Amino acid sequence: MKIGILGSGVVGNTLADGFINKGFMVIRGTRDPDKLKDWEKRIGQQGKVTFFKEAAEESDLVVLAVKGSAAEEIVKDISDSITGKCVLDATNPISNDPPVNGVLSFFTSLQESLMERLQKISPEALFVKAFSCVGSSFMVDPKFQEGKPTMFICGNDEKAKIQANTILQSFGWEVEDLGKAEAARAIEPLCILWCLPGFLHNRWNHAFRLLKK
Ligand SMILES: NC(=O)c1ccc[n+]([C@@H]2O[C@H](COP(=O)([O-])OP(=O)(O)OC[C@H]3O[C@@H](n4cnc5c(N)ncnc54)[C@H](OP(=O)(O)O)[C@@H]3O)[C@@H](O)[C@H]2O)c1
Repeated sequence: MKIGILGSGVVGNTLADGFINKGFMVIRGTRDPDKLKDWEKRIGQQGKVTFFKEAAEESDLVVLAVKGSAAEEIVKDISDSITGKCVLDATNPISNDPPVNGVLSFFTSLQESLMERLQKISPEALFVKAFSCVGSSFMVDPKFQEGKPTMFICGNDEKAKIQANTILQSFGWEVEDLGKAEAARAIEPLCILWCLPGFLHNRWNHAFRLLKK
């Protein structure tokens, strides 16, 4: 299975290596393939770097790991290439305003998440919110004494969520499916909560876990 990773930031880098280590072929997308030449050289046969659209086109499953404010434009451009494909959406709609007392600002509202906007732009793509509620250093095989942390997911397509679930479990996560795309209104703001101890106390070493009776 070929995984398209759209994004050359820390999330793209982390998940690209994570998928490679789990045995997948990874095709990375960026506006500037030159910047990932070293990665391509290091990975050899198991990976390749190209532009956003080509990476989406050539992949069976896509991970969207681009800056939140660029996501809508990118999804518009690649829409034809993600028809019928599971798109794991790691983006958060963080605005350019600085945090206030450690609280990030979003350019979306509690009545409309970024993932819902992306789903409207590309109605045939199978978006699943995933990887958005934790820092990149814990995305792959997180180790906590208390046990596995919880990855909150949502999306409209049940088969795509099964694919997401399988991948997330193999990445060391317990998965909590919160239903349809509207649930991204609750999942995306977890990023604000996750970052607060970081901005306030420089503590970035946590993840969420849903305790159940
Ligand atoms: N950092 C974390 O720990 C973390 C955790 C959870 C979720 N997230 C979310 O994951 C996403 C990626 O985060 P990140 O920290 O890895 O990197 P980032 O700096 O938020 O995004 C980098 C990517 O966005 C693309 N990009 C930026 N501006 C663009 C524009 N104007 N037009 C087109 N593409 C543009 C870049 O394209 P090029 O490759 O062409 O430069 C690059 O691939 C974000 O939405 C973030 O909120 C981050």
